[in-house]
Amino acid sequence: MDKDGLPRYSKTDEHAVGCYYGHRHRRFFRVAVALLLCYTVAQYWRPAGDVGRTSESLLSLERLKTDHAACSKLQSVPQDPTGLRERNARYLAGNKPVLIRNATVWTGEPAAGTSAEDAHSGKGYSWIHSDVYMEHGLIKRVELGISIASLPDDCEVWNANGRLLTSGIVDMHSHTGVDSLPNLRGSSDTNELSSDITPYVRSIDGLNPLDPQLQVIKSGGVTTSLILPGSGNNIGGEAFVIKHAVGKPDGRSEISAEDMLADPEKNWRYMKMACGENAKRVYGTLGRDFGPFSRLGEAWYFRHAFEQASTLVKAQDDWCAAADRRGAAKMPGYLPRELEWESLGAVLRGQVMVNTHCYTVPDLEAFVRHTNEFKFPVRAFHHAHQTYLVPEILKRAYGDRPPAAALFADNMYYKVESYTASEQAGKILYENGIVPVYVSDSPVLNAQHVVFEAAKAYRYGLPYHAALAGVTSASAELLGLGERIGKIKAGFDADVVVWDSDPLSVGAAPVQVWIDGTPQYVDPVELEKPAPEPLKPDVALANAVTEKTEKTSVIFSGVSSVLSPGDERQLVGNGRDNRVVVQEGVISCVGQCLDEVAAALSSGIKVVRLRNGHIVPPLTSFGTYLGLAEIAGEDITQDGENDENSFSAAVDGLLLDSKNLKAAYAHGVTRAISAPAFKHGDHKGISVGFSTGAVHAREKGAVWQDEVAVHYTLTPAARQGKTPSLSSAVSELRRKLFKAVASNETEADLSVEDTKLQAVVGGENLPLVIEVHSADIIASVLRLKEEVEAAMTAKSSSSGGLRLIIYGGAESHMLAPELATANVSVILAPVLAYSESWDQRRSLTGAPLTNGTAVDVLYAAEVKVALSTKEDWEARDLGLIAGIVHANSGGKISEAEAWRMVSSNIYDMLGLTTKSDRGEAEFCVYEGNPLEIDSRVVAVADGRGMVSVWA
Ligand SMILES: *[C@@H]1O[C@H](CO)[C@@H](O)[C@H](O)[C@H]1NC(C)=O
Ligand SMILES: *[C@@H]1O[C@H](CO)[C@@H](O)[C@H](O)[C@H]1NC(C)=O
Ligand SMILES: *[C@@H]1O[C@H](CO)[C@@H](O)[C@H](O)[C@H]1NC(C)=O
Ligand SMILES: *[C@@H]1O[C@H](CO)[C@@H](O)[C@H](O)[C@H]1NC(C)=O
Repeated sequence: MDKDGLPRYSKTDEHAVGCYYGHRHRRFFRVAVALLLCYTVAQYWRPAGDVGRTSESLLSLERLKTDHAACSKLQSVPQDPTGLRERNARYLAGNKPVLIRNATVWTGEPAAGTSAEDAHSGKGYSWIHSDVYMEHGLIKRVELGISIASLPDDCEVWNANGRLLTSGIVDMHSHTGVDSLPNLRGSSDTNELSSDITPYVRSIDGLNPLDPQLQVIKSGGVTTSLILPGSGNNIGGEAFVIKHAVGKPDGRSEISAEDMLADPEKNWRYMKMACGENAKRVYGTLGRDFGPFSRLGEAWYFRHAFEQASTLVKAQDDWCAAADRRGAAKMPGYLPRELEWESLGAVLRGQVMVNTHCYTVPDLEAFVRHTNEFKFPVRAFHHAHQTYLVPEILKRAYGDRPPAAALFADNMYYKVESYTASEQAGKILYENGIVPVYVSDSPVLNAQHVVFEAAKAYRYGLPYHAALAGVTSASAELLGLGERIGKIKAGFDADVVVWDSDPLSVGAAPVQVWIDGTPQYVDPVELEKPAPEPLKPDVALANAVTEKTEKTSVIFSGVSSVLSPGDERQLVGNGRDNRVVVQEGVISCVGQCLDEVAAALSSGIKVVRLRNGHIVPPLTSFGTYLGLAEIAGEDITQDGENDENSFSAAVDGLLLDSKNLKAAYAHGVTRAISAPAFKHGDHKGISVGFSTGAVHAREKGAVWQDEVAVHYTLTPAARQGKTPSLSSAVSELRRKLFKAVASNETEADLSVEDTKLQAVVGGENLPLVIEVHSADIIASVLRLKEEVEAAMTAKSSSSGGLRLIIYGGAESHMLAPELATANVSVILAPVLAYSESWDQRRSLTGAPLTNGTAVDVLYAAEVKVALSTKEDWEARDLGLIAGIVHANSGGKISEAEAWRMVSSNIYDMLGLTTKSDRGEAEFCVYEGNPLEIDSRVVAVADGRGMVSVWA
């Protein structure tokens, strides 16, 4: 999936024709509109006393009066709607009152009497023991020991058994419903690319209430989303805040977008704008007579649009003032109206909350200039990766409050605009008085897990309460709905989630979700988890050292557990007494190590004191473009892409010392196995095994395996060139493998590909990795394996069978027993698939909708499984992904097993050993349990003799 729902980053823009004609039309239209406007204004501006009797007589008095009456509405500025209501306007008669008993509640507010300064630092916030009573779609009471006798007879009682309860999650950047999943051309309505300036289009006009993703997202506790148009245009159009309740099963009476509106009274309006690279990329193609081609052009397009809207607003205000003075009947013309500029006029009137996609300093600065030139506030900058560097620019924006920053926690580097970014952005912004909120940009991130973005923000140093606010109360407030949603408080909409664990812990899943007081699940799957305990906010996370030092010898004290590949010993007892001594790059002692410590101390070796230290094997990333590409949106930063005629070895194209690699390394991912890219997506060629910490490929230990596996793609990307269909792609692979079985190594003029395929079907047993998600194509691959193995047996060219690995595997769970029987391993990427594309539509999304995800089904069927990621930036989250898999396995996948899935399992599948030949230690030191959110990497040794320390 491309970022922002936009066309692929490519030189040829498939939308060129549509835009061109559309624009031509619009230019003519604009001239006509301008003329009309001039005419109307000229009519009005006739000298006083010469009020045209004749034209008046031609006008409808009724319409003049209606126009005059419209003035006050036109000029009104909305207030945030209050929480003081008898009932929620969304309440439907018949939905019963609910009492949730014995919950541990996060109200979203500090205790009464907490000073603003204390509240900012998190003082006064806590989880409280309470009952919650909901009636008429509202939260009515939040107090302990509510007696049933005081409630209506039809009240339903739901026992939370102490579990954690928060308000519904609010995602203020989503395209769900307009960018429906699975991604299909017929249901893609994200960007109106007929023109760069389209304030007049509205996301609600394309919003599909039947988008299955609306339900999947809700299953992550998300009850409210702001549905924005995409960011292909400088001005994208109007946005709408919806709730994720659709039709009868969700307690609604109808299936409609209108019924989903979070605020049926429509107090506020919302608009999406975007600056920077996107509009240039979509429109700025040489040979066209329009742009924008550059940021310079974008600024002009913005200003020109605001000028049109401003002209309309002034003409309207003048008309209204004159009508007030003279009476509507005496007006020489009607109230000027222009649908094209109406919504942008409303922006200038302060009726619309503007949300602008803006990454970089020049973009932020230009946009802030526009706000001051045309006097309108911007509510939040989205994708705002560079805001942490320039809070003072944000503070210069027009209006009485600086814009917020709507962020991803660690999705960065994918385009040049996000290449300057920081995991600490949320923390830094918060410290500088800018509100950070966390968003999914669904379908860019899996919005079901948008709360995981807030969790990672907490991990990266944003205070716990501010991280939770960043997906609840702060987002609600930025939507102007701060008295309605985002808190557990009497008078608020009854949007409530009860969680199976702290929402900021790894793998947190709702047990039940209520929207406007209606439970959304009849029979939700509830995972078996330890008794829920709120996390203890760890303020030390904010003090993480980001600069590393290199050591050959170092001592770690306060080690409470050591998990090494061969020796899975868990140290027990008083953690403070346990030490790990590293000398000259080799672990020389684990335990008390009194003698070693004394000797080491006398030679001045650094002691790193850990709180709850954990030592684990480092992580391996498999199958991304790490080491072969740096910025996804910038072709020149990449090795390039193989097509159907080319085939290469990644070792020949390694590009090291990159930001993505440094981030992976700093998160304990010391090794990566990457294969060359394939032109239309995914991979083709021979993968290389390398050390992420190496600066170049000739460094000692930089490349630890020249050729790891042969990779092919059988996703829809395979359908091109010589193999226009999936069936032809499968049969082409079959032809190549049969040829490899039939041929022999002494044959002359064998291509690299032929030679490697001979190694796949021959005694070397080189692994064959097929990138595929669809269960149907996995079935074809299993048949292919059988056929090729039969040929291999006939030729007796190999003792064993094919060493076959499925990479991707979103639908692999459907063939778990078959995969186990065929001895095929699976590397899941992504681990939590979400029906992004048609071939992944049968992904399991987990509790409360499904009992487990693909990993649980594969593991139960005894398929060898490993975990990886689809995108390069995500490699840094591998440890947490293992944590999610462990936490959500109902106790079936142990911590050690989950960790093997991101480390040693990959080597078992590939027939490789993890041991470095030189015996230098490879380990990763964490403070805190590496599978939990509040852990962080303190040191990494990657087997090349050095220990990198962040302490
Ligand atoms: C609340 O739930 C907890 C956890 O199940 C339980 O220990 C406690 O007794 C319950 N309290 C009440 C008042 O039911
Ligand atoms: C989920 O599946 C497992 C078997 O994999 C089973 O033990 C468990 O009871 C199931 N849970 C639910 C809620 O169906
Ligand atoms: C290998 O193939 C070549 C060309 O097809 C043939 O000349 C040669 O005899 C074969 N050698 C073996 C050992 O099969
Ligand atoms: C499964 O495949 C692996 C790797 O090819 C091989 O080592 C192992 O012997 C196979 N197991 C069975 C039961 O065929």
